[in-house]
Amino acid sequence: MTTPIDPVQFRKALGSFTTGVTIVTTHGEDGKDYGLTANSFNSVSMDPPMVLWSLGRKSSSLPVFSQANHFAVHILAANQESISNRFARSGTDKFAGCAVTRGHGQVPLLDGCSARFECRVVHQYEGGDHVIFVGEVMNFDSFGQPPLVFHGGNYGLVMKHAEEAASIAPAFGDGWLGFLLGRAYYQLLLPVRENLERNGLRDLDYSILAVLSMGEERTVEELDRLVSISGSRVSEDDILKLAARGLVEFQRSGSAQENKVKFTSAGRSYTIGLLAIAKSAESNAERDLDYREAQIMKLLLKRVIQTTASSLPEHWHKDQFWRPDNLWRDRSPPDAA
Ligand SMILES: Cc1cc2nc3c(=O)[nH]c(=O)nc-3n(C[C@H](O)[C@H](O)[C@H](O)COP(=O)(O)O)c2cc1C
Repeated sequence: MTTPIDPVQFRKALGSFTTGVTIVTTHGEDGKDYGLTANSFNSVSMDPPMVLWSLGRKSSSLPVFSQANHFAVHILAANQESISNRFARSGTDKFAGCAVTRGHGQVPLLDGCSARFECRVVHQYEGGDHVIFVGEVMNFDSFGQPPLVFHGGNYGLVMKHAEEAASIAPAFGDGWLGFLLGRAYYQLLLPVRENLERNGLRDLDYSILAVLSMGEERTVEELDRLVSISGSRVSEDDILKLAARGLVEFQRSGSAQENKVKFTSAGRSYTIGLLAIAKSAESNAERDLDYREAQIMKLLLKRVIQTTASSLPEHWHKDQFWRPDNLWRDRSPPDAA
């Protein structure tokens, strides 16, 4: 006896099977390119090399794929969610703005994916409301990009299993957040520090220059307040040292409120250089993270910043740091709390 299948529940149960996401493309006899997002892709045979995928009978590209001798399967990379959505929308010009090269049978090949298979159609099978296409792989490319994942109707990313992730750094403070954040911060700072040391400067000088990079013309008192988030204090003496190095200008003519610190042009270009070193250290650190891991990490850190911000003094809020004359103008300032 068979149980009646509730389509909603059936779809939901199928959704618990995690897949990658592909875009399958072909070239029509009308000279146009066709393609759609498909997660029904699977491997079939090693020898000969074969893959399959299935196409819904309601798909507007069914007549073209039924006639085609070739197709290409692109396994999407983690940062290709938007192109996946674009190719899942019927009736639009899906290829607009996409750079394509041509494969077997003039099939359009897309860039930026994780892997790509060019296939010759060898079988078509009836599959209920879908048609199953089996292709022999004639050529393939593997680009080593982390893949986009689909599970339960949502996109996801591949994360290492908790146990495997734990083995990466068993000695690091047993998951103590403060230790991990501090350690990551100091390691990111290493190349900046090396440069500071070579120039006879200290961490404190970097903090002062970094605050000035967010907006100049600050009083010593203001710099002291803003830098004090790092635990260090700024005195007039510290500013005079930077002035003696030719990095800042400090005119002591009037009251403490009138004596403002600003960059010399040498100081401004040195600071831009330091920020570039910091940015490149950050890119290196992100290199082993895939796009979505990097996004999630930043999102979670912002949450930590937000949830711990309630006790921050007013002068440590974002608008106190950033001014229109900041050095990041064309570099989009990081959006912190
Ligand atoms: C993640 C995802 C996976 C999909 N997998 C398939 C699939 O395997 N087969 C299919 O026919 N449609 C699949 N679709 C739906 C098609 O992409 C969608 O119906 C598309 O509009 C069909 O394009 P067309 O009408 O231009 O041919 C999927 C959609 C998404 C978002």
